[in-house]
Amino acid sequence: MADLAVIVLAAGKGTRMFSDLPKVLHQAAGRSLLGHVLTTVVDLAPARLVVVAGPDMPEVAEEARRYCSTAATVVQAERNGTAHAVSMAEPHLADFKGKILIVYGDVPLLGAATLRALADAVCDAQPLAVLGFEATDPTGYGRLIVTGDGRFTAIREELDATPEERAVTLCNSGVMAVDSALLWELLPGIGSNNAKGEFYLTDLPGLIVAAGRELAFRECPEDEVLGVNTRAQLAVIEAALQHRLRRAAMLKGATLVAPETVFLSVDTELGQDVVVEPHVVFANGVKVGNRATIRSFCHIERATIGEAAIVGPFARLRPGATLARDVHVGNFVEIKQAVIDDGAKINHLAYVGDARVGAAANVGAGAITCNYNGVDKNLTEIGAGAFIGTNASLVAPVRVGEGAFVAAGSVVTSDVDPDALYIERGESKIRANWVKRYFEALRARKAGAAAPREK
Ligand code: UD1
Ligand code: MG
Repeated sequence: MADLAVIVLAAGKGTRMFSDLPKVLHQAAGRSLLGHVLTTVVDLAPARLVVVAGPDMPEVAEEARRYCSTAATVVQAERNGTAHAVSMAEPHLADFKGKILIVYGDVPLLGAATLRALADAVCDAQPLAVLGFEATDPTGYGRLIVTGDGRFTAIREELDATPEERAVTLCNSGVMAVDSALLWELLPGIGSNNAKGEFYLTDLPGLIVAAGRELAFRECPEDEVLGVNTRAQLAVIEAALQHRLRRAAMLKGATLVAPETVFLSVDTELGQDVVVEPHVVFANGVKVGNRATIRSFCHIERATIGEAAIVGPFARLRPGATLARDVHVGNFVEIKQAVIDDGAKINHLAYVGDARVGAAANVGAGAITCNYNGVDKNLTEIGAGAFIGTNASLVAPVRVGEGAFVAAGSVVTSDVDPDALYIERGESKIRANWVKRYFEALRARKAGAAAPREK
């Protein structure tokens, strides 16, 4: 929408979050609240985007640029109200002609279609449109004042409302779209003579009516304009997003056996006929190929899982874990920054980090890549078809050739040629009846007798 500019209000400290992090940077489903809002806004392809941040929030500007490289961020040094916040954006938008959409950075569930419809409602006859909703509990919201003949004439903040106005349940979501020229013309006329002593953006509709113009409003479901002031509300948003993401994943052909126990991120990609058993967490950046099975209690982050692979139960795939087709990763296995080729198996209690594991290799129970020497990370390469015995330690950098065999318990400190055996083991000793003699000796010593010395 070339005739659209967007202002995102995000200067609130979020006092009720009790957090060092600005409120809009708290995450839901693997994306910040601001990220959710900006993703939706960017979908509208606005000509300009300005984010109003509070003082000492450089991370907000950074986050804004991640979603929109051309986003401008302005700082509202003092929190003097929503109209004051909007006026901070004027230097970036004074020469812009068109519609200006104003949204809050802490209202993450808004849909692009709703915003587009609101912007479309702005026209010459009705140069401002407000997004309202029927509130189950209107406490704390501004009310949309609509006359008996359906004309929307003003927004009244609760603290300034009469008892009759407070009985209204049609509330202001805070989202509005307005003609740019009119906004900059009327904004300076907004005063702070109200219960909070703040400059309310919600006075703008009344000023437009006073200037002899009309207003529009659109309604959306309450769920879409849920905001975040507390961690409890953040959890409500998380739940709503999870519900959406799980549903979308299932509608695309993944089976979630117990969807309410599976946690997805906005960027999780599950292929067709993927089966996810109960209690799995997909952090950011996970892609799962068709027909893969993720068994219960796995935690997976920035990892790629190939077709028909089987992961878990109780596996942890960390960033850079890349599993090809038919790979099996079993219980209590941790994989980080490692490429595991077709059909390789790492089935029990292993750590594979900074590694390449060739096709059909078998990494035994308890095998460990010793990737870190205290200063740098080193690579372990395991060739196709190699067999790494139980409890082997592979001290990187090290290479085990194709088809080689590392005997159980070995500490591998040098490269192993293809098809070779590597065995590193102390000489074993067996002493018949040793246990009996040992305890006899100990008991004799305790009883005061001179214990014979054990050899
Ligand atoms: C506002 C609306 C109210 C509406 C409600 C919906 C006003 C005066 N009232 O009330 O009609 O029903 O939202 O949730 O607008 N902000 C700044 N700088 C400021 C003040 C606010 O950036 O100086 C930002 C906040 O970070 C927040 C948004 O603007 O994202 C709304 O501010 P908030 O204080 O939550 O307004 P409410 O009192 O909830
Ligand atoms: Mg609020």
